[in-house]
Amino acid sequence: MTESNPVAIVTAAAGAGIGAAIVDRLAHDGYDVVVTDVHERRCREAAERLSVAHGREFLAVPLDVTDESRVQAAVASVIDARGRIDVLVNNAGWSKIEPVSEMSLDTWRRCLDVDLTGTFLCMRYALPHMIEAGRGSVVNISSISAYETSTEHGAAYSAAKAGVLALTRVAAAENGRHGVRVNAVTPGLIYNDFLRKIYPDEFFDGYAESRSLVGRVGRPEDVANLVGFLVSDQAGYVTGEVYGVSGGVYPHA
Ligand SMILES: NC(=O)c1ccc[n+]([C@@H]2O[C@H](COP(=O)([O-])OP(=O)(O)OC[C@H]3O[C@@H](n4cnc5c(N)ncnc54)[C@H](O)[C@@H]3O)[C@@H](O)[C@H]2O)c1
Repeated sequence: MTESNPVAIVTAAAGAGIGAAIVDRLAHDGYDVVVTDVHERRCREAAERLSVAHGREFLAVPLDVTDESRVQAAVASVIDARGRIDVLVNNAGWSKIEPVSEMSLDTWRRCLDVDLTGTFLCMRYALPHMIEAGRGSVVNISSISAYETSTEHGAAYSAAKAGVLALTRVAAAENGRHGVRVNAVTPGLIYNDFLRKIYPDEFFDGYAESRSLVGRVGRPEDVANLVGFLVSDQAGYVTGEVYGVSGGVYPHA
């Protein structure tokens, strides 16, 4: 691979779910992927796994998206190493389900910090490089929780993910004329084992059979395929949009 390959930064890419599938998809599509995650060891291991799978070297940049100085330094290090940023996928998310009447301020702040402020900070420092280059694409991973009336995901997470949609639309309006597109994706249940620690068993019971319209829960690859399209030139007329990927559980127009 040479410096001329388009460079894609993906946050929270060393987990068990969507981020890992996105880096795999983008690597498959020829991107020079930068694996970032707050968990340093898993971040390096994920980049190594990707290198073995795709036969070329990928950068690992440990990053907590809530830390402004580290976001700034991470973006600068990618520019130093690769000279360009073509794609940013804001995948980092965090949630803890507490009713509003009992929610701690820490839960509220942590959720807004990771899901919304983290998305803002990464855009804040990556966008100037895209604007300068006159090209770029950002995909923000929101959730169906941004629209639904449900107790399933908790108000902090829903508020943060709804905020991501507003942030996406305004950033798209600001940057389209600079050649930069900004879109969001709202997944429904995309299964990974870690979710068992966050959601009660009842959340999963019957989801595939009676809620999903396609008889299964989502897979990380379902989101990665959509992201792969949205960042590609095939999506050149697509910006400021929100795409669901929820097996029809929460279609939204
Ligand atoms: N899994 C779902 O059902 C689902 C549904 C809708 C939306 N989403 C959203 O999709 C995204 C990915 O979710 P996932 O469940 O696939 O998990 P994932 O495995 O892709 O992401 C979890 C990773 O996030 C990292 N992380 C946590 N806090 C971070 C921080 N401050 N900075 C950087 N990295 C951090 C963790 O280390 C972990 O590796 C999240 O934004 C989530 O809200 C997930």
